[in-house]
Amino acid sequence: MPRSTPVAALAVPALAVPALAAPAARVHESLVLEPRDVRFDWARLPLHWIPDEPMATHVINVLHLLLPEGERWFVKVFKEALPLIRDEQLREEVLGFIGQEAIHAEAHQEVLDHLLGQGLDPRPYVRQVSWLFQRVLGDKPGLTPAQRRENVIERVAFVAAIEHFTAFLGNWALNSPGLDRAKADPTMLDLLRWHGAEEVEHRSVAFDLMVHLDPGYLRRVRGMALSGPLLVHLWVRGARFLLAADPTLQGRLKPSWREAGRIARRGLLPDPIRSIRSGLRYLRPGYHPTQEGSSSQALGYLATSPAARAAAAHG
Ligand SMILES: [Fe+2]
Ligand SMILES: [Fe+2]
Repeated sequence: MPRSTPVAALAVPALAVPALAAPAARVHESLVLEPRDVRFDWARLPLHWIPDEPMATHVINVLHLLLPEGERWFVKVFKEALPLIRDEQLREEVLGFIGQEAIHAEAHQEVLDHLLGQGLDPRPYVRQVSWLFQRVLGDKPGLTPAQRRENVIERVAFVAAIEHFTAFLGNWALNSPGLDRAKADPTMLDLLRWHGAEEVEHRSVAFDLMVHLDPGYLRRVRGMALSGPLLVHLWVRGARFLLAADPTLQGRLKPSWREAGRIARRGLLPDPIRSIRSGLRYLRPGYHPTQEGSSSQALGYLATSPAARAAAAHG
């Protein structure tokens, strides 16, 4: 559990600071991140786990398509960044982040396996996601040490921008009574809220790591400029894929922004306009992830989450 300790200022990085630099030292409450080894039983999960809401179900299901590959890639990038860290507190936070993301990836992988058992084969889409993370965003052979360092920092900036969205989505999941009203499956709700709460809990780690390695504002902008549009593209493609692959729909349902907006107004999806605005907030010079979401709400959920409580009991 997080403890309240004196604030930690991040070390000034060795790299030259560009003219458009944001403040180099970010000061925030230090964290102790605890990986919670949760288990979920999907045996009784219906295909449309928000009853009679296949569109909302599959738009959220895109998480399960993206996160196993994506979060394994986060873990890989952060392990590569470990030797570059010159601040012990940040290093501990990065290790905690790695532990949490590794468990998230496996939890969502189990949902993918369940979808396959229900006749919805996610593998063609997952292969594309895997190609993206492992080939396009993966290791580049033959780099000099300086190029390699640059490549790692660039990928950390990419993770930091995505983590802005995972915290945004986590915060939404923790504040989504519409899903309860619609009688969404309680186990899936617990997965979304447990994961969402941990995303809120560790929301500053990737950003602080990026600033530690390069405080330049341009690095932050580039991370968002690349990852924001890519994430939207992957989400739209993923929703289309799932709706087309759903054996009970047989391609009858097509996703549209207008329909997504209508579903969001009923509280079953994050509002698309708010999501884009949130991405723009990341570009404000004084931005820090702790300005978004509530750590105490996240920890409050983790104290009551059935999966997190069971994990704590099994220690
Ligand atoms: Fe995660
Ligand atoms: Fe995360």
